Amino acid sequence: MADKNFVVDKDKCIGCARCVKDCIAYALALDENNKPYLSKDGENRCISCQHCMAVCPVGAISILNKNPENSDPVWNYNPDAVLNLIKSRRSTRHYKSENLDAETLQKLKDMLNWTPTGCNFHKLHFAFVEDKDIMDKIRDYVNKKLIKILTGNIANKIKTKFSHYKDALVNGEDVIFRGAPHMVVVSAPINAPCVNIDPVIALSYFELYANSLGVGTCWCGFAHICMQLFPELAIQMKVPHGYKIAYVMLFGKPDIKYSRTTQPEPFEFTTVKDFTIQKLSITQKIKHFFINNIR
Ligand SMILES: Cc1cc2nc3c(=O)[nH]c(=O)nc-3n(C[C@H](O)[C@H](O)[C@H](O)COP(=O)(O)O)c2cc1C
Repeated sequence: MADKNFVVDKDKCIGCARCVKDCIAYALALDENNKPYLSKDGENRCISCQHCMAVCPVGAISILNKNPENSDPVWNYNPDAVLNLIKSRRSTRHYKSENLDAETLQKLKDMLNWTPTGCNFHKLHFAFVEDKDIMDKIRDYVNKKLIKILTGNIANKIKTKFSHYKDALVNGEDVIFRGAPHMVVVSAPINAPCVNIDPVIALSYFELYANSLGVGTCWCGFAHICMQLFPELAIQMKVPHGYKIAYVMLFGKPDIKYSRTTQPEPFEFTTVKDFTIQKLSITQKIKHFFINNIR
């Protein structure tokens, strides 16, 4: 286990013990002068979440060689503005055929480092297609391959999945990548505690931040399927050994403007009002297992 380098500025520390209280790993304790320390055991348990540094009201704690002065202050947010951002993001399927500027691309990449991961595993891989000419090569390759399969005689699962889109593809429509100049392909290590969830959280954050910068995005199930169908395409994403591709998001400058939000039908919501344990039959238990573990 790497050294966590937990350092307390004892002149600044006010002995409030907030760091001890907020440590999920129970790795910190207070010494006889009410100053926190990380024990040898704690060193092994620490998950490097940096809560100790973030919660300290006086910036007295450094961990992992991070200087608390380099952290950003925490702002208050306008909840209406956040809600409007959530409501007004749309799946963008019309893009300007131009690259985003380097500064915007860098902002989008930097933000990703703050997305949460289960157990603070903090290992994800993002393959960015930053140049629309490369994206054009990818779309040409995939679209041609799909057309060949869809117009050929051999029945296979690709034909079934994409049959509705045959005519559009043959007519030259970019059904898969929607003319997007960029895409990001996210992968997670197969041994990550939350291998299926972490990448989706990252792309959800990406989508909202991108939209706040005026960048359109689209979750792309089709491109994800293509990554699975055409391994030669997936290999181009330089996914590290032991990682699996989780999802794909298209993005770029939108060539469409939405004037208002949608008005979705409400999902189902339940308020849990009591807690009375019911004895389950073996059939109910088996049914529960299958409903919750399949797919
Ligand atoms: C997991 C997921 C996969 C999706 N895959 C595609 C896709 O392959 N192509 C596409 O055009 N839209 C795709 N979408 C976009 C949905 O069709 C879209 O979210 C839905 O129609 C609602 O529209 P809105 O996102 O503008 O609110 C996907 C959305 C999600 C959440």
